[in-house]
Amino acid sequence: MHRWSKLFIPTLREAPADAEVASHKLLLRAGYIRQLGAGIYSYLPLGQRSLNKITTIVRQEMDKIGQEFFLPALNPAEIWEESGRWTGMGDNMFRLKDRKGAQLCLAMTHEEVITSIARNELRSYKQLPQIWYQIQTKFRDEPRPKAGLLRVRQFLMKDAYSFDLDAAGLDESYKKHDAAYRAIFTRCGLDFVVVEADSGAMGGSQSQEFMVYTEAGEDLIASSASGYAANLEKATSRLTSVVDLEPTGDGMPELVHTPGKASIADVTAFFGIQAAQDIKCVAFMGTRSRAASIEPLCPVVAFLRGDHQVNETKLNAAAGTTNLRPMTGEELALHIGGPAGYLGPIGIAEIMTHGSLNGLKSGKPLEKLKGVHRDNPAEGLKTIVVLDPGLEGRKNLVCGANTLDYHYRNVTPGRDFTPTLIADIRNINEGELDPLGGAPLRLGKAVEIGHIFKLGYKYSETMGARVLDASGKEITPIMGCYGIGIERILTAAIESSAARFAAASATEQYALPPAIAPFEVVVCITNVREPELMQAGERLAQTLEDAGVDVLLDDRDERAGVKFKDAELIGVPYRVNIGKKLAEGQVELVDRLTGVTTSLAVDHLSQHLAALLAASKC
Ligand SMILES: Nc1ncnc2c1ncn2[C@@H]1O[C@H](COP(=O)(O)OP(=O)(O)O)[C@@H](O)[C@H]1O
Ligand SMILES: [Mg+2]
Repeated sequence: MHRWSKLFIPTLREAPADAEVASHKLLLRAGYIRQLGAGIYSYLPLGQRSLNKITTIVRQEMDKIGQEFFLPALNPAEIWEESGRWTGMGDNMFRLKDRKGAQLCLAMTHEEVITSIARNELRSYKQLPQIWYQIQTKFRDEPRPKAGLLRVRQFLMKDAYSFDLDAAGLDESYKKHDAAYRAIFTRCGLDFVVVEADSGAMGGSQSQEFMVYTEAGEDLIASSASGYAANLEKATSRLTSVVDLEPTGDGMPELVHTPGKASIADVTAFFGIQAAQDIKCVAFMGTRSRAASIEPLCPVVAFLRGDHQVNETKLNAAAGTTNLRPMTGEELALHIGGPAGYLGPIGIAEIMTHGSLNGLKSGKPLEKLKGVHRDNPAEGLKTIVVLDPGLEGRKNLVCGANTLDYHYRNVTPGRDFTPTLIADIRNINEGELDPLGGAPLRLGKAVEIGHIFKLGYKYSETMGARVLDASGKEITPIMGCYGIGIERILTAAIESSAARFAAASATEQYALPPAIAPFEVVVCITNVREPELMQAGERLAQTLEDAGVDVLLDDRDERAGVKFKDAELIGVPYRVNIGKKLAEGQVELVDRLTGVTTSLAVDHLSQHLAALLAASKC
């Protein structure tokens, strides 16, 4: 029997001033963790109980598809040199020397170690497939450790690796992990979305991130009820239809005097049009890396619908650039020829061209574009003009005329100007419809709790893992790697719950899903000086424990109010109050997940609670 009076649960009234996100404050206040250094934490008994419950769930699900290992955290440099990651990992790797001066590191991940085992031990196709996993401490010298356990320098990871004969086998291993991860996160009580993290550009590789929406997260994602989910850099939405304007005059671009109308709002009001009938121009300078290793600044000009916003990551990917920054006034004059507020596509002298607009397919010309740059360094300074698909096939648009106080109307892309390429470069907005099922998109910050990835041959190839196939021919196994952040499951659960409490009652509280809470129920004796209450509490706690419930008996000589607050603070989902109603054979059950308090006959409590817990774990 766990008695609060005997346990070490150092709760705090206040969180330290430097704790910002809810989970950081609450984990400290609840006595789950204490900080030792930047991104380094001790786990106290409550934190450890919760993490143990998480690892048990992870282990149970992983044992269905693979076998558990435990690999060393201390690694000789040689193995990392073989894969090329001794230098590749840069400052993120903790490095040290032994007494003989040999270089070692604290492992950030274990592809190298696991591949060395495969290389030394696997000989035949008959030994494949293999799925090997471990739950172990990882070390990463994160540039910005922060937010409590969300981004730390020492953390627990479940990492798994698969070895298969061919791509079809890898597909199977990948699917098994996808299913196992869904089972794990569901059992942990998390509301998660699965985001396609890679477009499949790298030789059929595939990657999915498992994300939980939270303001404390560092990624931006979009998802919808039809199952669509993507990082903001990838997310797209259905275009809303726009009725094009009727042409004026002879239908060709017509110069219009628009004094002082520099903003989209002013221009649309002046012409009496919608923003979607206007062309927005956003001009950048970006760096293009080149084979010749000179990195010239290249003008990149984006044209998109007046009601859309540019996404710089998408634009970088489309134009093959990095480090985009807005053009200065001088650069605008040089590369576009117009002042800010009056920029437009007509008359940009040196557009890098790639055939006709009709020949361009979204995304496609990129490879060609890269080729041009590599072959002909002089091309580097020509302007890359990117047109968003929201303007493809449109006509009679309004845009800047590259002259102060003038705009054009009747502008038709393809006829009046030819972009270098057409690519999706816009940000989606909350509530727009997803491209699959047309359900409204939810847009928000999220934290990554897991990641599954088709590695391919990278490590098996470079480190020389080979097996003989049925015909005796040597082949290289194909690999996958799969990670789960154990602490992130706990923090994501706290953040999600805290957000629900904040929305409902504007208080900083949380209640953990029963499966990962340090205890499932607190039996709270409201006054331990009353022998009947004390005895009833002891008896009830024992009955619950005998029924397999993980129970904490609060037998401390404290005021009931203090005990209720503490029970809330440690995030236990159910509380039973043994108080005055005991005289009528009644106790109170507080369900913190639903906020409902019910009076129950003390004899029925155990059965009732067991049923609630069973339902919560389905
Ligand atoms: N610094 C960290 N602190 C806590 N958990 C982490 C940290 N870095 C990674 N994780 C967890 O480990 C999982 C696997 O890591 P990985 O995908 O290699 O990390 P990353 O996406 O940061 O490169 C992540 O999905 C995340 O849940
Ligand atoms: Mg990742």
